[in-house]
This record gives sequence, C-alpha cells and structure tokens, in this order.
Amino acid sequence: MDHTVASLNESVTADQPSTQSTQSRGDAMIRLEDLYKRLGGKQILNGANLAIEEGETRVIIGRSGEGKSVLIKHICRLFQPDRGRVYIEGEEISQLSETELDSTRKKIGYLFQNAALFDSLNVLKNVGFALFEEKQFSEDEIREQVLDVLRLVRLGDILEKMPSELSGGMRKRVGLARAIIQKPKIILYDEPTTGLDPITSDAINDLIISLSQQLNVTSVVITHDMVSAFKIASKFSMLLEGRIIYTGSPDEVRTTDNEIIQQFIQGKSTGPLSNL
Ligand SMILES: Nc1ncnc2c1ncn2[C@@H]1O[C@H](COP(=O)(O)OP(=O)(O)OP(=O)(O)O)[C@@H](O)[C@H]1O
Ligand SMILES: [Mg+2]
Repeated sequence: MDHTVASLNESVTADQPSTQSTQSRGDAMIRLEDLYKRLGGKQILNGANLAIEEGETRVIIGRSGEGKSVLIKHICRLFQPDRGRVYIEGEEISQLSETELDSTRKKIGYLFQNAALFDSLNVLKNVGFALFEEKQFSEDEIREQVLDVLRLVRLGDILEKMPSELSGGMRKRVGLARAIIQKPKIILYDEPTTGLDPITSDAINDLIISLSQQLNVTSVVITHDMVSAFKIASKFSMLLEGRIIYTGSPDEVRTTDNEIIQQFIQGKSTGPLSNL
C-alpha cells in the first residue's frame, strides 16, 4: 500500500516544502512543514506538510484517530512538533516567547471538537473569557462585545445561562462565539457540525461562510460531514498515516480517480483505505 501513498504525495507539490530558507515565509497564512509528532508511543504525524493561503477555507479529512485534531493543535502551539516547523504569516512560532506567542494566539480562534465550554461559568464568562483575562475592558464593555458575537452566531441574550442549560447546537454556537471574540484572522474548527441535526448543521455552515466573508478569516475545518465539507471548502486536504496525501479543490475531489479519496468521500467500507 505504501506505493499508493507515495504516488499520491507527488500530486501535492503545492504543500511540499521548497528548498529555500525555512527561517521566514511570507507566502502562506499557515504553513506546516515536515511535522513529526509521537504521542502515547505512536507516530501520529510523520512528515506532514500543509500550506493554507489567506482567506481560504481548508477542509481536513481523514479517518478517526488519524491525527487531524493533533495536526491543527500544532497551528496554535497546543502541541509542539518533535521535528518540523509551523509558520503563521511567515513567522515560525516554535521560536516565540510566551509574550510573543500571546499575540499570535490572539490571531487564532479555536472551536474545540466537543465545544469545551467551562461548565461552571455562564455564557458571558465563557464567551468573554479571553477579554476578562486580558483586563483591558470593563465588564460592561465585555458584556457588549459578548452580545455582539452572540448575535453573529444568531444567539440572543443568553449571557446568564449555564452550559448545562444549552442544547448541543447552542453549545457549538457559544463555542464559536468564544472562538471569534478576539476577531481572529484564523479560525480552527474541529468538527463544528458533528452531532447536530441537518438544519442546525447548515446554519453553522452558513456561519462559517459568512465569518469567512465578513471577517476575511482563514479557516481550517476538520469534518466527517461530506455535505458540509462540499458546501464550505475552498480546498480539501486528506491526512493519512501522518502525512497530507492529497490536496485539491472540491471539483478535483469529486472527479479524482484517486481511489483513496473516492472511497473516503463516498464512505465505502471496501477499498484501498480498508487495507491500510
Ligand atoms: N495528548 C495526547 N496524548 C497521547 N495520545 C494522544 C494525545 N492526543 C491525541 N493522542 C492520540 O493521537 C491519535 C490521533 O488523535 P486525534 O484526536 O488527532 O485523531 P483525529 O483524527 O482527530 O480523530 P477523530 O476523527 O476521531 O476526532 C490518537 O491515537 C490519540 O489517541
Ligand atoms: Mg479529532
């Protein structure tokens, strides 16, 4: 099976590192270069390369447990690679001090896979968390900003509600409000529609699209939901065995004769992926 993966690698030259200096790269909003990461005795990332341009909505696909969440956690240095480099707007983030890292993290909003709200904090405190920490605004000002982002995600004044009082769809939207409160340039969405009904999923997709257009954000979306993926993606990338083995536009993905991609997007239990 290795030769299949190797031959696929040849078709992703856009995501391959070039031979020029790796100290500074101004060309892509996000560049992951030759990332290796071992966790719990398993090699999760094994030379992953990914380049995402400003304003793109890149959908990351791949089987469960393949390392998609681990991959995007490297973008905001929740993980440091064992080897390889991560560039945000050309800046290599492993070299940054904690203070410098704070300003890079401000550029990045993260919707965690399970929405990950603080259960003991109300919606105001959850969504405004970073602003309360920053101590730059009064509580009234934070309240206004929180109401503004709640409106963006089409939620009303639910400031005093606790996470346990919210439905799954509302929790996702509160998580999204928290991810965008600092007006990030980059938003990482880890399975934004998983577990939601089709109508709520579609509303979340519309939000992803409108945030991308209104705030000109660069989006990275992990999803298993192919309807959503085709609706929002400007490009797809597939992670397999620790590497990005394919990158293509939605049309390229639909029409590719790459059997791995076809098996995955059609959700077939038999095919080359089943033997890997
Ligand atoms: N902090 C950690 N410590 C040890 N192992 C970890 C850690 N985080 C992730 N892993 C392991 O890394 C592998 C990849 O996990 P990851 O969550 O990135 O998969 P995924 O592709 O996002 O899967 P899913 O689609 O199910 O969310 C798994 O085997 C997981 O157990
Ligand atoms: Mg995951």
